[in-house]
Amino acid sequence: MTRRIARYLSLAALPAFAFGAAAQDAPTFYQDALPVFQKNCVACHQPDGPSVGGIYAPMSLMDYEAAKLWAPLIRNALETGYMPPWGAHERHRGEFKGERYIDKAEKDLLIAWVDGGALEGDSAKAANAEGLVASSVGTTLPESGWWIGDPDLVVAFDEPVYVPDEVEDWQPTVQMHYEEGAHQEPQWISMAELRPGGPWVHHIVSSHMGVGVPGRGPFTYPEGWGVLLAEDPFITVNMHYHKDPVAGSAVYDDTQAAFKFYEEGDVIDHVVETNLLPHRNWTIPAGADNYEVNNTFEIEEDIYLLSMGPHMHYRGKAMRYELEYPDGEMETLLWVPNYDFNWQFLYEYEEPRLIPAGSTLHMSWWFNNSETNRYNPDPTADVVYGPATTDEMANARIYYAPVKQRGIVVGRDLPQDVLETARATEQRRREQTELIDPSSDDFSWLTEDEAR
Ligand code: HEC
Repeated sequence: MTRRIARYLSLAALPAFAFGAAAQDAPTFYQDALPVFQKNCVACHQPDGPSVGGIYAPMSLMDYEAAKLWAPLIRNALETGYMPPWGAHERHRGEFKGERYIDKAEKDLLIAWVDGGALEGDSAKAANAEGLVASSVGTTLPESGWWIGDPDLVVAFDEPVYVPDEVEDWQPTVQMHYEEGAHQEPQWISMAELRPGGPWVHHIVSSHMGVGVPGRGPFTYPEGWGVLLAEDPFITVNMHYHKDPVAGSAVYDDTQAAFKFYEEGDVIDHVVETNLLPHRNWTIPAGADNYEVNNTFEIEEDIYLLSMGPHMHYRGKAMRYELEYPDGEMETLLWVPNYDFNWQFLYEYEEPRLIPAGSTLHMSWWFNNSETNRYNPDPTADVVYGPATTDEMANARIYYAPVKQRGIVVGRDLPQDVLETARATEQRRREQTELIDPSSDDFSWLTEDEAR
């Protein structure tokens, strides 16, 4: 949150914004700007707007007074590309689900509206605006409070996790139990959603849902694709909390998760697998402002690639996935030119993408470890791979499934290998990490090294 405040202050400190005498034909809020806001912004910027992976848009852009007040920051957010939030380069238009690109003409119009004095116009003539909201289907949160609709299963901590004042960066692994009897048979997940308890939740890792981070919506698998949720009494999630360690900053986190399952008789052809593809073998020198690291990964069988999720920390600058086909031809799968740690998207293909056996994934990450990176925690330090937000990471998560169809009929047969893999994945997660009991108030670990 410091970041937002800092940005706000630095902008507020600019010379007083000139709402000068407006030209006669300057665009107005009701006639010109509002429809553009509605198309591109109000999915999040509305009164009591939705949680976007734990963070909330700070104002409604359906409201003239608010829009006017925020006008200088709106201009800035548009010019820098910070809003609407989306990381994939324009060249990927049409490729990924939930993409957010604003057309140049619309962007220019909003900027002209700000520059013209953020005029109000005539609200009576704004009638067509409502139609526009209605047409942006799927952007209002369903009654259930979950983007996935009515969940089949909701899981929560037994008690909210207490994150004390002293915590700046903390990654406990916590169990989320199901209600008794709620989950006795393995189930095939068709949709999953993580609802972070608040902006202090930095990211959440669960083997069933992948990574939940600010800015991340629910996971929806294509029909016939799924992940098995074994019949354990709980799932294990690795939480990552990050906040200012100041007096009064303590919070109770009640992050929850929800699932929708396939129904009996549905057929699962593709069992979704994930790979974090971490690359650890590098040191970013102090002060380097464009440090590149590279890694490759061989694709051994024909797969469908579902999605890609780049992950770095505060020094992350840009990221690219390239595919080298067996015949040597190269293609850029994903180019994120301005990586933003606070908005970590998973780029999900509209259509799963076939990758032939014998291809090679080439992954590149760029880092700015200099003082020109305002979010750099320490430009004087060499940085290596590590879990704390002050360390760095170079991950290139992928979700995929083998092309070979399994034909598993839900409720009828469950291949032993699938069940065992699902159990083993969860078991590995449990063993790798120490569990905390959120009901205990023993915070002696705060004086230990891992608490930073
Ligand atoms: C996916 C949801 C979403 C969409 C779409 C979206 N915003 Fe935002 N916006 C947010 C959230 C969440 C924040 C708070 C972000 C933060 O804390 O930095 C925000 C913050 C802002 C801010 C404050 C930025 C700052 O400097 O503090 C402005 C201005 C803004 N949005 C304008 C817009 C405009 C204009 C559009 C449409 C062109 C838009 N947003 C589209 C979610 C969204």
